[in-house]
Amino acid sequence: MMNPILFFLSLTLLFHSHFSTTQAQSPAASPVPAGRPNIMKILEKDGRFTLFLRLLKSTSVGSQINAQLKDSNNGLTVFAPTDAAFSSLKQGTLNSLTDEQQIQLLQFHILPTFITPAQFQTATNPLRTQAGGSDPGEFPLNVTSSGNIVKVSTGVMNTPISGSIYTANRLAVYQVDSVLLPWSIFGTPVPKAAPAPAKAKAPALALAPLMPAEKKTPPAKSTPSSTVNTSGTVSLTMHGMVATVGIAIVASFLLQQ
Ligand SMILES: *[C@@H]1O[C@H](CO)[C@@H](O)[C@H](O)[C@H]1NC(C)=O
Ligand SMILES: *[C@@H]1O[C@H](CO)[C@@H](O)[C@H](O)[C@H]1NC(C)=O
Repeated sequence: MMNPILFFLSLTLLFHSHFSTTQAQSPAASPVPAGRPNIMKILEKDGRFTLFLRLLKSTSVGSQINAQLKDSNNGLTVFAPTDAAFSSLKQGTLNSLTDEQQIQLLQFHILPTFITPAQFQTATNPLRTQAGGSDPGEFPLNVTSSGNIVKVSTGVMNTPISGSIYTANRLAVYQVDSVLLPWSIFGTPVPKAAPAPAKAKAPALALAPLMPAEKKTPPAKSTPSSTVNTSGTVSLTMHGMVATVGIAIVASFLLQQ
């Protein structure tokens, strides 16, 4: 058996040598600026964002944020929904999303620039998010401020920014008490622009229900039939049909006036 004191000493030596090697290595291996923030650590430390954190990890969006903070000079702004915000979603909301939609939902909470609370007052709507386009029907996100209150609206919902968790080193993390629901996933679909043909068709469709009602009037139908000669049933029926349709159209036209 090893002497316990010797064992302890060798352990200390091992630890010490390991520690000094890593210390010596780290500046050379990766020149880390002292102040580079880590979104996961910031949220972990706070403790109220465990669900958001879990999603950031499962979708890898969290590590993308950290990578972007390293590469971009514009910084980032993150709207972090609290655990309470996620629990107040309609049950099954998150599970009903595809993997891609979950990523989009998270990216919708991230703006590709560092925005201070004061800058929200002068921001130009709609803001650009990491999720995609900000046109109607896509991922528009607006901020409006009145006094000290800044509200975020998506067209589906709106919520105030209820706190600032971190604003330094080109990263801003703000607390929101609702999950920001993007129009693209939770809004009603915006119809594609094709107004001219759609409108031209509408009156024709409206005519259809009127026609059976008009057919009921027997005089209209019998009048043309009586004038037709006996040359053949085919021509007679054809003639009769054309007359009926013609009368129905005229009648419904009159009804519309
Ligand atoms: C956002 O702001 C733009 C520009 O003011 C406006 O056109 C749009 O309707 C707004 N959208 C929402 C969802 O508030
Ligand atoms: C009957 O009508 C048809 C056309 O509807 C015409 O071609 C034919 O000559 C007519 N016959 C008589 C006997 O009038």
